[in-house]
Amino acid sequence: MPPFRAPRGTRDLLPTERSAFRRLEAVAADLARRYGYREIETPMFEEAAVFERGVGAVTDVIEKELFRIAHRSDEGESWALRPEPTAGIVRAYIQHGMQTWPQPVKLTMTGPMFRYDRPQAGRYRQFWQFDIEAIGDPGPAIDAEIIELGRSFYRLAGLDEVEILLNSIGDAACRPAYIAALTAYYAPHADRLPAIERERLHKNPLRLLDSKDPAMAELNAGAPRITDQLCDACQAHFTAVRGHLAVLGIVYRLEPALVRGLDYYTRTAFEFYIPGRQGQQQALGGGGRYDGLAGLLGGRPTPGIGFGLGLDRIVLALQAKGALESSEAASVAVVVGADPADTATRLRVATDLRAAGIAARADLSRRKLGKQLESAAKERVHFVVIIGDELADGNVQLKDLDAGSQQLVPLADLARKLASGDKSHRHGVGESQGPAGRS
Ligand code: HAM
Repeated sequence: MPPFRAPRGTRDLLPTERSAFRRLEAVAADLARRYGYREIETPMFEEAAVFERGVGAVTDVIEKELFRIAHRSDEGESWALRPEPTAGIVRAYIQHGMQTWPQPVKLTMTGPMFRYDRPQAGRYRQFWQFDIEAIGDPGPAIDAEIIELGRSFYRLAGLDEVEILLNSIGDAACRPAYIAALTAYYAPHADRLPAIERERLHKNPLRLLDSKDPAMAELNAGAPRITDQLCDACQAHFTAVRGHLAVLGIVYRLEPALVRGLDYYTRTAFEFYIPGRQGQQQALGGGGRYDGLAGLLGGRPTPGIGFGLGLDRIVLALQAKGALESSEAASVAVVVGADPADTATRLRVATDLRAAGIAARADLSRRKLGKQLESAAKERVHFVVIIGDELADGNVQLKDLDAGSQQLVPLADLARKLASGDKSHRHGVGESQGPAGRS
């Protein structure tokens, strides 16, 4: 057993997995750009009050999962690692006077989030989100646009089957009456409720609806539905969101029990799932409208909507169906040499190739040529540059490992030859000629 391991609930992303993340980040960045979202980067920690007020003090994310940061000096502040990006982004929107910018302000951020959760499959203490926020637009059209953007992301990521669950959870006008109805519904059963649910009944009855406790399933099935109690304005908004989704041809499932785990939501709420895997810890992503959040954080009332898509769970889903593509960059060429001791020439040739833009590695071991070639063949490298006696005339041997061919090439032409050879390899030319056993 090694003496040190990554902290519980965290993991090292080794090169193959990191490369899968990198590909998702690239898809996210490209989509965000196409839809007009600009990148923002907020600190990984904030004053804890940003999350307590924004996300809501009586939520699992704050009560149980907030990573508070211990102080070295007492500056009267209390910080916490960000459990999610939305509160920090809206804090930045207010702080930098973005309400004077053309609205909506469309922002995106991809990075690690931290929740002190009980670790299990797909639930980590450090995880990555692709986040999108459109602040300053009350919808309904942008609600549909954002849901469609989420669906596009999953499709490009390789998860065509992802299902969209949709609900409206009302606003300050209609939610209080709904919460009263919910409390009245559960109150006669209070004695029979699991302890944690009984506490929620008093503090945050909405949370009962997405209880993870199987004992709650039957009771929850009969609970009043928010969509039956929406005020006229929320009802009209929801109908219009659905109208826009229909125009875009987006298929979704209405889920009246979808309330989301964070308090700032109003109206539109949605989550993304692999069909059949619906459950608390299985959401691939989720989001919704948060028209009250800017007000909670001391700004003037400003509507907003966004989503957070969990990259870790997407990678797990791709892994589960054997679709994890690795775009790991392998060297195009390895420079080997007949004189094991002459590491300097190999290093110089590889350095010149890299300066010319070629991904090249020099074999800097002092192994015999045979061993150097063996090691190059084990890599996913296409070419080997062999330095031998021909160098005296300014030439090297260029071996194409896939084609199994070898030619004498002037050193001055080497970078150009490798660049064109790499291009044809990447476009599949010569792929079928490779000797068996290489991939
Ligand atoms: P959320 O539903 O709390 O929403 O998180 C979004 C996604 O992050 C989840 O659907 C899940 O894929 C992933 N996730 C959450 N917790 C974990 C964890 N412990 N381990 C692995 N993945 C996790 C939000 O965070 C909102 N800020 C989304 C949003 C943006 N709403 C409006 N704008």
